[in-house]
Amino acid sequence: MNSTQKRIARRDFLTSIGRAVGSSAMLKTMAAMGIGTSLASCGSSSAAPGMPGSPNPPPAIPSPRPGDWPTNVGVGKSVVILGGGIAGMTTALEMTMLGYNCTILEATPVAGGRNRTIRAGDVINETDSSQTCLFDFDSDLYFNVGAARIPHHHEFLLGYCREFSIPLEIFTNFNSGALMHSATSFNGQPQTARQVQADTRGNIARLLALAVNQNALDQELSANDKANILQMLRSFGDLSGNFDYPGSERAGFPGQQNTGSRQRGESLTPLQFQEIISETFWQQRQDFPHSLNQQSTMLQPVGGMDQIARAFENRIAADIVYEAVVTEIRKITDGARVIYQDRVGTSMTIDVDYCICTIPASVLRNIPNDFASAHQSAINNFNYAAAGKIAFQSRRFWEQDHNIYGGISWTTQDITQMWYPNAGFGRANGIVVGAYMFGSNASNFANQTPQQRINSAIAQGNNLHSEYGNEVARGISVSWPKVPFQLGAWGTSDPGILLTADDNIFFAGEHLSILQGWQEGAILSAYHAIDLVVSRDIP
Ligand code: FAD
Ligand code: ALA
Repeated sequence: MNSTQKRIARRDFLTSIGRAVGSSAMLKTMAAMGIGTSLASCGSSSAAPGMPGSPNPPPAIPSPRPGDWPTNVGVGKSVVILGGGIAGMTTALEMTMLGYNCTILEATPVAGGRNRTIRAGDVINETDSSQTCLFDFDSDLYFNVGAARIPHHHEFLLGYCREFSIPLEIFTNFNSGALMHSATSFNGQPQTARQVQADTRGNIARLLALAVNQNALDQELSANDKANILQMLRSFGDLSGNFDYPGSERAGFPGQQNTGSRQRGESLTPLQFQEIISETFWQQRQDFPHSLNQQSTMLQPVGGMDQIARAFENRIAADIVYEAVVTEIRKITDGARVIYQDRVGTSMTIDVDYCICTIPASVLRNIPNDFASAHQSAINNFNYAAAGKIAFQSRRFWEQDHNIYGGISWTTQDITQMWYPNAGFGRANGIVVGAYMFGSNASNFANQTPQQRINSAIAQGNNLHSEYGNEVARGISVSWPKVPFQLGAWGTSDPGILLTADDNIFFAGEHLSILQGWQEGAILSAYHAIDLVVSRDIP
């Protein structure tokens, strides 16, 4: 089957599902997408601070899916799509299948936007700096500077991965062998996640068992309930016969995280519970992998997140104009006019029936346009989270010396977290993400030069792994508020009026979705914009 046949087969398949499933299945689909339930932006309710969710959830609106749109509805109509990220490319792919004549204008030489993977020789440009990636050439040595993980329930994104035959592998959010480090607890010594978790559960279970055994909950619990809950608590916390928590083998044994100094069979003294409960850090970082969008199974494309962007691009390359910087967006009778600068600086004009704009609001607000004042005002006031990352190439000392295979170590320091690679296990070298930060930490990071970022990430990394500074090299960083044509990490405002058409101009992009800060959100936003256009063209 060639790619056109595959597209048609998929379209027919989806159309037949759309026809067959009817409204109850649609409702289930909507429920699966979180529509009508709660907003699950980035981290969701139990996300730690710095994993920003929108304080004012966008209103739940029904999202369509491709099977809802009539075949050939767009024949004879032209569309210009502004921005070649996941939202723009989804829009082009689906609308082309519906018969629309699509053109994407993308400002940079490569499509993907915030779906971006850096390898040897790649360049990261910021508004005031430029860095070249000095990693060795190797398929495992890559750095996902934007999107990096995919929740198992982001079904549309995963559906495209399936359709495009993109191999996926596990992304580990929680690793028992990774570390948790607070500068102000346990004398600043990092603790293994397994011990923090075992001792937290043990102590919570011990205290609740104490309350039950002292009859403090008799108004809540029958005698039978009390017996059942005590049994559950013993197992939950690995309590002793008399419901005490003397420690647990779940916490590991002394030196387990350091090869060469291990005392297998000996037990660890439990951590002081007062220290765990006195600082929110310990609770938040334990809760992180339980939030809806961070729960296992998390996935990643083998070889880098940009495998997804490349696969989209391969299917719609003919529709993309690269290095086409949109400079004006205008309304014309029954259509839209977009003016852009091509790669040699010539001003070009394109007139179309419809314009779908996926340019981030942080950039869009400075592009001259004919938008209605309500739309312009929403764009002007749209807030964006700051985020930054840094990565180093290194010997895999975390595997070889500490038995850490993938996952995340957390710290109260500005770097916030350290990510170990989730692939290439057992190889000599790997890429460690030495910081992934949000909010004010990310704003401070933005103000540092690339070398200052490297210096501070190494100094802080040393507090997690004392050998860090001697092992890591070739640091490269990204600060999303300073990346041209992005100027922010992800939207956090209520999309409001931007979910409605402004004459023949429509808006899409992750920031206009129920899943802000996720590629799935970019796809949902594309489906919403397509739906608005298609509903105009249905006879
Ligand atoms: P973009 O990708 O921003 O696309 C917009 C496009 O418009 C860009 O290509 C840009 O170059 C172009 N453009 C801008 N201005 C102009 C102009 N004037 N003319 C022409 N073109 C222009 N998602 C996940 O699923 N999993 C994750 O783990 C994850 N982690 C993330 C971590 C970070 C640090 C960041 C920043 C994002 C993360 N995301 C993650 C979110 C995900 O990357 C985005 O939601 C998604 O890629 C956004 O797609 P988009 O098409 O809406 O926007
Ligand atoms: N969705 C982004 C992440 O998981 C913010 O890191």
